[in-house]
Amino acid sequence: MTNRSGAPVVVGVDGSASALDAVRAATREATARNRPLRVVHAFIWPLIGTPLGPVPGVGPEAGLRNLAEDVIAEAVAEARKISAEVDVTGELVDGSPIPVLLRESRDAALLVLGSRGLGGFAELLVGSAAVQVSARADCPVLVVRGEPRADGPVVVGVDGSALSTEAVGFAFEEAALRGTGLVAVHTWLYPAPVGPGDILPMAYDLDSLIEEEERALAETVAGWSERYPQVPVRQRLVRGAPAPVLVEESAAAQLTVVGGHGRGAWGGLLLGSVSHAVLHHARSPLAIVRHRRDADHG
Ligand SMILES: Nc1ncnc2c1ncn2[C@@H]1O[C@H](COP(=O)(O)OP(=O)(O)O)[C@@H](O)[C@H]1O
Ligand SMILES: [Mg+2]
Repeated sequence: MTNRSGAPVVVGVDGSASALDAVRAATREATARNRPLRVVHAFIWPLIGTPLGPVPGVGPEAGLRNLAEDVIAEAVAEARKISAEVDVTGELVDGSPIPVLLRESRDAALLVLGSRGLGGFAELLVGSAAVQVSARADCPVLVVRGEPRADGPVVVGVDGSALSTEAVGFAFEEAALRGTGLVAVHTWLYPAPVGPGDILPMAYDLDSLIEEEERALAETVAGWSERYPQVPVRQRLVRGAPAPVLVEESAAAQLTVVGGHGRGAWGGLLLGSVSHAVLHHARSPLAIVRHRRDADHG
């Protein structure tokens, strides 16, 4: 397992306004976590005869390499504007964005991306690099959309799976760093048919079902709550489908956190259906927690 102590917060930039939103969020994360900030721009060197370096007689700004370096310089300057003390470095990395960012995630404490970039279709709510990377990264990924609200709780979706427990841990850490409270949301739909032809029991004890769900939620939260006693926690048991409930809760949140997949994950499905829906529709920045981070991450 990679040792992540001293690992940087990494932000991917592509020259878009959304990536600059990500830079501001990443700078706050790096400062709060007391970690270095690493700005990365993935750049595919074109194979056609476009001049890469400065072109004689055209001025020093010409050439794609210089444009790509400007993207980094702009992001580094933005980070320094947000925080004078942040330890920030920028690097132009050869390659296409998805593999480059996935490689970065191996050694990062956190990877921060904008929800949109320069390319893609205007109709997309979240760009393809952001979707692919948050589905496959080796560290938590924070997808930023616009300027986030500074108030409101951290909201986390809980489904009782191992990954959602990881997500709860990450959410507690974020709430502690931000000095805010945590809302742990668990939705339930029982009893409901889970497949075609399912027959519901004629009678069921609704109260004991609710009690059971409440107990499961409390159990997931309890261990982390002991570790972060300063974080006030509210447990919300909501009857409904998870994605719409989480999207609604995200509207008042300063950050929403989900696991990369849940109890219902099919083999091969990289991002669970709830994570996928919330990634596209969340109304706050969204953190997707996929892998257990190293125990030693301080
Ligand atoms: N070439 C790149 N290098 C580094 N990060 C990138 C690159 N392209 C995109 N990103 C990151 O991913 C985010 C989302 O971009 P992307 O998924 O490509 O959206 P779109 O499809 O709208 O271009 C960007 O805001 C940026 O953080
Ligand atoms: Mg793009």
